[in-house]
Amino acid sequence: MTDNNNVVILGGGIIGLSIAYHLSHSPSHNQQIHIFDAAERLLESASGYAGGFLARDWFPEQAAALGDFSFELHRQLADKHNGQERWGYAGSHVYSLAPDDAPAGTRGEDWLLAGTSRAQAAGRQAYGHVSAPEEKVNEDGTPAWMTPQSGASWNVVAGVEDCAQVEPRKLCEFLLSEIQRRGVQLHLSTRAIGVTTNANGKISALRLEATNGLTEPTVLSCSDIVLAAGCWTPRVYKTLFPRSRLEVEIDALAGHSVIYRSPRYTKPFLNVASGQEGKAHSKDKHISYAIYCPPTKTWSYSPEAYARLDGDGKPEIWIGGLNNNSTELPLPELATDSKKLVNKERITELRQAAVQLTGLKGQEGTAAEDDLEIVSEALCFRPASKSGVPIITEVPHKDLGLGSHVTAGAKVWIAGGHGPWGISLSLGTGVVMSDMISGREPTVDISALRMQSPIASKL
Ligand SMILES: Cc1cc2nc3c(=O)[nH]c(=O)nc-3n(C[C@H](O)[C@H](O)[C@H](O)COP(=O)(O)OP(=O)(O)OC[C@H]3O[C@@H](n4cnc5c(N)ncnc54)[C@H](O)[C@@H]3O)c2cc1C
Ligand SMILES: *[C@@H]1O[C@H](CO)[C@@H](O)[C@H](O)[C@H]1NC(C)=O
Ligand SMILES: *[C@@H]1O[C@H](CO)[C@@H](O)[C@H](O)[C@H]1NC(C)=O
Repeated sequence: MTDNNNVVILGGGIIGLSIAYHLSHSPSHNQQIHIFDAAERLLESASGYAGGFLARDWFPEQAAALGDFSFELHRQLADKHNGQERWGYAGSHVYSLAPDDAPAGTRGEDWLLAGTSRAQAAGRQAYGHVSAPEEKVNEDGTPAWMTPQSGASWNVVAGVEDCAQVEPRKLCEFLLSEIQRRGVQLHLSTRAIGVTTNANGKISALRLEATNGLTEPTVLSCSDIVLAAGCWTPRVYKTLFPRSRLEVEIDALAGHSVIYRSPRYTKPFLNVASGQEGKAHSKDKHISYAIYCPPTKTWSYSPEAYARLDGDGKPEIWIGGLNNNSTELPLPELATDSKKLVNKERITELRQAAVQLTGLKGQEGTAAEDDLEIVSEALCFRPASKSGVPIITEVPHKDLGLGSHVTAGAKVWIAGGHGPWGISLSLGTGVVMSDMISGREPTVDISALRMQSPIASKL
């Protein structure tokens, strides 16, 4: 192994981990892979606290092929490594709540589908839900964990063929344990502060610095530099290439969330199609549920609730959807600082929505009661790209702003800006990045996910 064969991945969220997982898997490589993360612990970011909802085709056109491919990869990975038990992988039924006071025509999944072809994504024939024999159901046939709503109706918008869920932290932990077994080196509390060029005028190394002040700065030679730092990607880019005119347009969209348990969801939901010939999801023992709601008189945001299994196979419900832009809630320097920013009022609002959607229903006309048990509360930041689709690309050398005396050398890549879909698109992103770094054509077409070059557009 030569020294300049180091592939350096900056950021150890699900995107960085998935790239390392697929790159360390491809037989043709002989690189040493390193992941550097600025935080002292991994998964203190979106990848550790996300909802874990996966979709096959809820994406804008530019990301459609990647979305479908990634959805299949999730299923294959779960089948191969017992993801059902290890990271709660299960097909998901999806319900949309239509409250009587929502503006006409609005639906709960709307914000996720912004920029998507609605006809394609949610207007298809919906798959009906079939209750398993032991499952408690409400009068209208909906599962008992969903609270009947006076004057409102539940609609099935998608089913287990095209949607699924995972416990994202557990999936990340699986990827992490696999890559460490394969020799990928993980360096915490470290960030890159610049690139160095060699005597031939080529980018040859990265300068690295401890974020906790404990160790001296170091230099690591490299052949590839992959920016996969979620919301922090624009900052990393500006630090490494301060004179570049290329804007990495990724904003941070803060999201509060709560995980809780309900007395009406104490056993995993059985998959009635389990073992049936010819069904894509027949290997799954269990299914999960998602609820999407539009804004109503009761809440100004779009709550989303996911009934899923945690990594120990225990039922839990994740609720989120209460978001604040970067003016309202700016991105902290380190992912680990997010905890301090959790806002109690936002958590209370989410809990109220949890009670209305899934609380104990008393008599007709009375509000649902709070018999829910809170497990944890969190805040994390979605890397929301301005284009609405991820950025997955090599940055052309001419755009790096290094001056004409620097001629190529290490390649610079960006894999970020996955917005509300980074868990779903993670595995596909890992494969296409690994393809490109290894010099292969990407398995699916991602040419629409490049950035606009400031130099090309000037011509
Ligand atoms: C509330 C919420 C719910 C969500 N629900 C879903 C969902 O249901 N389905 C779905 O598909 N997606 C969901 N997402 C989106 C998904 O979580 C993200 O798109 C995805 O986790 C982004 O992964 P990432 O690896 O790019 O970034 P992150 O997970 O943010 O990881 C970035 C990493 O970079 C590190 N870093 C920061 N600065 C530096 C530096 N200078 N150098 C090196 N490393 C650095 C950070 O410490 C962090 O570890 C949700 C997001 C939120 C916030
Ligand atoms: C963020 O929200 C505030 C207040 O809700 C709004 O005034 C502002 O324009 C928003 N900023 C961005 C960048 O969207
Ligand atoms: C965050 O968003 C919520 C819901 O939209 C809003 O009520 C609240 O005022 C926002 N917080 C800030 C600090 O702007």
